[in-house]
Amino acid sequence: MPKVTVVGSINIDFLIQTNRIAKKGETVEGESFSTNFGGKGANQAVSAAKLGAQVHMIGAVGEDEFGQALIDNLKKYNINTDYIKVKPGEPSGAAFIRLYKGDNSIIYVPGANSAVSYQDVREAENVLLTSDIVIVQNELPRETVEYLVDFCYKRDITILLNPAPARPISKEYIDKLNFFTPNETEFSVIFGDKKVEDVLSMYPNKIIITLGSEGAMFHDGEKMVHIPALEVDEIVDTTGAGDTFNGAFAYAQQSSLTIEEAVTFANLTSSVSIQKFGAQTGAPSFEEIQALKEYENSWGFKN
Ligand code: RIB
Repeated sequence: MPKVTVVGSINIDFLIQTNRIAKKGETVEGESFSTNFGGKGANQAVSAAKLGAQVHMIGAVGEDEFGQALIDNLKKYNINTDYIKVKPGEPSGAAFIRLYKGDNSIIYVPGANSAVSYQDVREAENVLLTSDIVIVQNELPRETVEYLVDFCYKRDITILLNPAPARPISKEYIDKLNFFTPNETEFSVIFGDKKVEDVLSMYPNKIIITLGSEGAMFHDGEKMVHIPALEVDEIVDTTGAGDTFNGAFAYAQQSSLTIEEAVTFANLTSSVSIQKFGAQTGAPSFEEIQALKEYENSWGFKN
């Protein structure tokens, strides 16, 4: 059972589904509204936990009506929440998600996530030191993320940074990572006009670019490897598909799979997740993946 620690955001997601986008000054009627548990960090933790990883979550919620519910939700997936703090006076992180034609756009308000400090990370050092892999994203303050990357780098703890949402990062920090997983938008914010192939070949087996319905790509040191996504009949909700990918990749990579097998497996999980509503409810269990005919290729025939 791989030990996965996620240092990251915990949000409440307000999801509306609409068939029309309101123009300036216009009111349109939407199709549905729901409140879901989300946050890139929490989604990645749930993804890994549903597959069977032993997961610790480090982060914070607000002192509001959502805080305890967000913690209880993670406990429901057997995620250890001992290092989730309630930040006095802060609201919980919130995301306002508009779903239009199966695709989403998100406005994220960090709240308590912006108060996760390097001291909070340091307090959890015993958990970090016994982790097989640590995952972090960009919904926390930059200083906290950089502190964590330095901490893991100095102690040789495997660390994956999912740079979502996008913000510039120095080469010094990319060099300290084991895995770096931008999507195409994040890739262009970080690397500008540079060609994907040129960048990926500079960081073999480290940068994995996720390409939505096109799957994912990395360079294995000799050549580019493109792993296509699974074709699905109907896309219901793409929210959190990237998070499902990252949690699943961490789990699979720490289960002795090759990078190629782990990416293939992670692709499968995100393809399954987009066929259901909700960032966390859509993430599949290991049994759901095992039931797919594509499973054997994804798990390298090991189980
Ligand atoms: O990646 C999807 C997540 O991004 C949502 O759950 C939302 O909380 C935002 O942070």
